[in-house]
Amino acid sequence: MEQRQPVRAPDLIAKKARGEKIVVLTAYDFPSATYVDQAGVDAILVGDSLGMVVLGYDTTVPVTLEDILHHTRAVCRARPRALVIADMPFLTYQVGADEAMRNAGRLIQEGGAAAVKVEGAGPVLPIVERLTAAGIPVMGHLGLTPQGVHGFGGWKIQARQKEHARKLLEDARALEAAGAFGIVLELIPAEVSAAVSQELRIPTIGIGAGPGCDGEVQIFHDLLGLYEQFRPRHAKRYAEVGSTIREALSRYAAEVRAGTFPAEENTIHQKDLEDPTSWT
Ligand code: KIV
Repeated sequence: MEQRQPVRAPDLIAKKARGEKIVVLTAYDFPSATYVDQAGVDAILVGDSLGMVVLGYDTTVPVTLEDILHHTRAVCRARPRALVIADMPFLTYQVGADEAMRNAGRLIQEGGAAAVKVEGAGPVLPIVERLTAAGIPVMGHLGLTPQGVHGFGGWKIQARQKEHARKLLEDARALEAAGAFGIVLELIPAEVSAAVSQELRIPTIGIGAGPGCDGEVQIFHDLLGLYEQFRPRHAKRYAEVGSTIREALSRYAAEVRAGTFPAEENTIHQKDLEDPTSWT
């Protein structure tokens, strides 16, 4: 029988305790959430990466709360078993705890998410405390945090030097103490992420952080070959769906031009209307 018990944030901590790897994937709409959930992932991230792979921006910075709300609702309409984590966009939590609370509340109440994700530590820690105290599970995000791409000067590997690796570990411990149920580690050397993972009770979810994390998150479009503008080294192409789509649509265009589509089996005749069940 199909198991439909929804995954909750504490389940991911329990998975780490059992030594089970955690699988996270982004999804941004009803069909992608349906496929991702059918693949049996533990959590779906409605990432602000949608700004790049769905909306065509160069970075995640322009993404708004309304964008994430719109896509989170679509994902939740697929009724996934996986935990739905909504990303909090740039400037929806950094300005203050009250505003962060209102915005996170909307992602949960109106969007249907069961957790939110924020980037960074330091000034973000009291916000994590405030949200978790209100019953909103929060995932952290350290390393290359894409909302800070302008400050980093590009998509650069983080925590390369010893003192930066030490700071990353300090931030990770602080996020755990503030109540985060997990932490994404993005673009950091594998040795650093493995060491951080060993130090924490909560799971680390890597992307470009090597195999030593407690789980992995990847972007739907990167795994399927649907985002051809940029091919990150950390993403493996499991399919070339972009090429398949291009080829299928070119055939469609060619058949319309040649007059071979619509064909007889795609055509409704007057006589079909007399028996409405005869044409589907
Ligand atoms: O927005 C996103 O998809 C993310 C992942 C890169 C972790 O934050």
